[in-house]
Amino acid sequence: MFSRPLSHGARLAPLEVWHADELADHMDRAREHIRPWVGPTFVTDDVDGARATLTRYADRRARDAGGLFGIWRDDVLVGGVLFTTFDAAAGTCEVGCWTEPAAQGHGLVTRACTVLLDWALVTRGLHRAEWQCRADNERSAAVARRLGMTLEGVRREAWSFQGDRYDQQLWAVLAHEWRPGP
Ligand SMILES: CC(C)(COP(=O)(O)OP(=O)(O)OC[C@H]1O[C@@H](n2cnc3c(N)ncnc32)[C@H](O)[C@@H]1OP(=O)(O)O)[C@@H](O)C(=O)NCCC(=O)NCCS
Repeated sequence: MFSRPLSHGARLAPLEVWHADELADHMDRAREHIRPWVGPTFVTDDVDGARATLTRYADRRARDAGGLFGIWRDDVLVGGVLFTTFDAAAGTCEVGCWTEPAAQGHGLVTRACTVLLDWALVTRGLHRAEWQCRADNERSAAVARRLGMTLEGVRREAWSFQGDRYDQQLWAVLAHEWRPGP
């Protein structure tokens, strides 16, 4: 019902429990594309798994501790952005993202993250927004860079995937550095 236009016929809107069937269908298109890069609990196999993700984030949203937002293009769910964490008292949050392959490369994620960061850093008055990604996730690091974030450091071998360990980058932008794009 409530959505924000992005571009290319896409819109950003809250991704809620009643979207479980849509999220499950989208996961069928996105699963192998996102699996190496996102937390394992986010990669679900069926409608019950999708509903569990949505319920988890609905609970975080109710506690003002996170949030999940979908990107729909031509009324098909093609990806999303999220507050993995949101802590108003501490003045910090962490933002994340994903898309299915067909929606990648159009600037939709950068635009959607801009909406979240503007809300967190301006409307809600948070001081610091973080971004974490595997150090070899070039597309994710490129989004952080486009958002004006600074690479603050590397958590060595902090990311575990299929028996191997990978370095993890920490990016962040502070409220006084935040300049939303056009
Ligand atoms: C990370 C991920 C979400 C990035 O998606 P993306 O589509 O590359 O990101 P953007 O929305 O910023 O799009 C950037 C591309 O659109 C282009 N673009 C077009 N218009 C643009 C605009 N107005 N603003 C920004 N980019 C624009 C950019 O030039 C860029 O193209 P290029 O990659 O060919 O150089 C995606 O690769 C993904 O889902 N990966 C797997 C899951 C994952 O890694 N999630 C993050 C975990 S940390």
